[in-house]
Amino acid sequence: MPAVDDSRVLVAALTRDDAAVYRISDDRALVATLDFFTPIVDDPYTFGAIAAANALSDLYAMGATPLFALNIVAWPRDPEILALVGDAIRGGADKMIEAGAFILGGHSIEDREPKLGMVAVGEVRPDELLTNAGARPGDRLVLTKPIGTGILATALKRGAVTEQEMAEAIRSMLTLNAGALAAARASGGVHALTDVTGFGLLGHLHTMLAASGVGARIHAELVPVFPGVREQITAGAVPGGTVRNVAAAASFTAWPEGVDDAMRTLLCDAQTSGGLLMAVDRDAASDLLARLHETGTPAAVEIGEVTAAGDPPLEIVDDIP
Ligand code: CO
Ligand code: CO
Repeated sequence: MPAVDDSRVLVAALTRDDAAVYRISDDRALVATLDFFTPIVDDPYTFGAIAAANALSDLYAMGATPLFALNIVAWPRDPEILALVGDAIRGGADKMIEAGAFILGGHSIEDREPKLGMVAVGEVRPDELLTNAGARPGDRLVLTKPIGTGILATALKRGAVTEQEMAEAIRSMLTLNAGALAAARASGGVHALTDVTGFGLLGHLHTMLAASGVGARIHAELVPVFPGVREQITAGAVPGGTVRNVAAAASFTAWPEGVDDAMRTLLCDAQTSGGLLMAVDRDAASDLLARLHETGTPAAVEIGEVTAAGDPPLEIVDDIP
């Protein structure tokens, strides 16, 4: 994409941040993001609500407050499947209302496979903007949701798990990252923030490290994982995006001696509506974790620390500190 040089553009595509940010006055900026995908669960209402939580997540990851959204709908004309689109749209609309925002319009086309998502628009004070740049050596890395939704969704499509069995992952995908952002703000010590989605935990961490000019160490055994994920990796339920993420991670990650493929797959699993990944000042880390617990985020775990830039920038260790 061509670079943009305009003082009103505070964040553009070049830094691979979570959303675009456009200043409209000295103390206000618009934040916009777009996300859509194929059904991740069978229940259409739940799919719509997850799509909304996922789209809003990129606003929270910039420190923004959601304002409104527009639907993007691609859906088959087959009467049996068409009958489900209303529930999917209702699920998205209800989740937007929970976030204090509204769906105000959208666009639909016919497609062979259902797809649903949103353009989400929010606002932020320019001096309160949180980006993926700003992590400093010594910062603690905190994650607010377990990982493994890509693997579980693939297992669901294969009939290897039921929605019942992945209920904890579904509850997590339905959880707005609003509470996690509020905890980050209240702690006052968060230097960098992003959300974990399609590029997986390591991919999004690497983007943060590159934007901040630092490295990191992750304690693999501390990373929270949804129940049943390890078994499904062994059974081969690995989505294509996760396989590509594992290949990409090889160029920026040092793995511990004798690490198995399952661990690489797990840490690179493509997430939907994943948690926030925060680099927090070491002196503010315990206060942040306490606030996250209080808010009831699906996880609140310190998984590693920021280091000086190294080659490769990211080191995975299998000890427990
Ligand atoms: Co994001
Ligand atoms: Co996104």
